[in-house]
Amino acid sequence: MADSAPATAEKLPKDLAAEKGLVNVQVDDTWIQVPSGTRMIEVCKMAEKEVPHYCYHTKLSSPGNCRMCLVQMGMPSRPAPGESPSYEDDGYQQISWMPRPVIACANTVAENMGIRTTGDLVEECRNGVMEFLLINHPLDCPVCDKGGECPLQDQTVAFGPGESRFVEEKRHYEKPIPISDTVYLDRERCILCDRCTRFADDVAGDTLIHFMDRGNSTQVNTFPDEPFASYFSGNTVQICPVGALTAKPYRFKARPWDLEETISTAWIDSVGSRVTVQSSRNQVLRLLGVDADSVNWGWLSDKERFGFEALNSEDRLTAPMVRVDGRLESTGWAPALAAATDALRDVDPARIGVIGGARLTNESQYAWTKLAKGVLGTDNVDAQLGDGLPVEAVLGLPRATINQACTPGGTVILVGPDPKEDLGALFLRLRHAVVNDGTTLIELTPTRTGLSTIAGHSLHPKPGEVDLLAAALVDAVSGDARDAAGVPADAIAAAAAAISGPVTVVLGRASIAESAAITVDAAIALSQLEGVGF
Ligand code: SF4
Ligand code: FES
Repeated sequence: MADSAPATAEKLPKDLAAEKGLVNVQVDDTWIQVPSGTRMIEVCKMAEKEVPHYCYHTKLSSPGNCRMCLVQMGMPSRPAPGESPSYEDDGYQQISWMPRPVIACANTVAENMGIRTTGDLVEECRNGVMEFLLINHPLDCPVCDKGGECPLQDQTVAFGPGESRFVEEKRHYEKPIPISDTVYLDRERCILCDRCTRFADDVAGDTLIHFMDRGNSTQVNTFPDEPFASYFSGNTVQICPVGALTAKPYRFKARPWDLEETISTAWIDSVGSRVTVQSSRNQVLRLLGVDADSVNWGWLSDKERFGFEALNSEDRLTAPMVRVDGRLESTGWAPALAAATDALRDVDPARIGVIGGARLTNESQYAWTKLAKGVLGTDNVDAQLGDGLPVEAVLGLPRATINQACTPGGTVILVGPDPKEDLGALFLRLRHAVVNDGTTLIELTPTRTGLSTIAGHSLHPKPGEVDLLAAALVDAVSGDARDAAGVPADAIAAAAAAISGPVTVVLGRASIAESAAITVDAAIALSQLEGVGF
């Protein structure tokens, strides 16, 4: 959804707005047209009006926990019984404002609705909410890792009371608690926004972090003696709006204003998640997910998020080296490049081979192959770890993007490794599509995967026989079901009958013990499905 919508001083004629699936909404005296059913808080964002919030997150459900997003809402007044509604000259009814505020994150807009994001009522209520949120908060910003990038800190300054009336003893908990190898919990700072628990339950499917107890004693915690052992735990740190969850690799390393930031691409797997790499004093200190709509939606696997620590390993080469008298010696880039150029200058190009990094981005791969083929004149290039598929096979298949795979009502056929283990961000996108958007998942994998519990059909062929199963599935679509690879014909027929909408195959080798030719044969079979992409 667009972040901003064209704001006009005029309302779109009612019929025209409805025809386009839009509704007229007045935000702080300006009319805008937005898709019907949009959440009020998103409409305010489109109108470039700030509404403070904590529990709301664009990629999560709206529990209405924190009550910080209060706005005043208005609707056309209802006529008294027996009376007709009165209209203004433009054909719209006058807005009557409600005497109490509503939360903007859990309510959607309707035709002719009015929203006020400021005013005495809204400001007084927000002030009260802030005061409640801060009652038990330790106010330890100077020693909190979130200081400088904390929405609670910022919004207390912007919308909160100047001083506290709370003189009683605040809650105290043991802190910080390492709830996993990488995440620390400081419960005193928690404002019970429910973001971490919703992420774990709804997005990752790892119900390992919860609220416990009730009322004033409610606290976020993990199960006794069970760590927060989720492959995606780092996302809870990123979305926690206070310093209650912190990441061990970043704790007390820097303040946000010390950090330099570079948008980049995660290099751990082939998903290509968007990340921002943050560094200080020439050392990478953390990676954060970027909300790239077509890729990872801001989520990262812990491998993507915390894998950067290898960059700071003492074993890593940090300078070019040349061999002098049989020994490798560090040198500068200019002498190293000169030595490489001298070594390559008089060599027959056919005798040169270039091995690129298998984990580089497409852009980097393009750059080094251009050097190899365009400058050195050699076709001897390779960039695989021995776990991939033949390039000619991959390039010959019709392509699909992650968004196409996650099309509501479409079908995903999984042939390959467990995405939860190897393609973390793709796992989260597929999981969302299956759970929320009615995408059908059919697994053709030798073992169960992290998606098996939500898959429509889990077919497990004997190892090395996925090609036979894929061919049988395609034949079953044409009504010719048979047993294949140890999977009974009726299970294959049921899976074939479930295929609907655009079909996307997530393709890879289930294990490197399995020949790439088997996966290629499976792909060739599945490529016969109508409109399929890979
Ligand atoms: S730990 Fe953070 S994300 Fe979780 S409920 Fe508390 S404030 Fe919200
Ligand atoms: S953001 Fe709306 S209730 Fe929390």
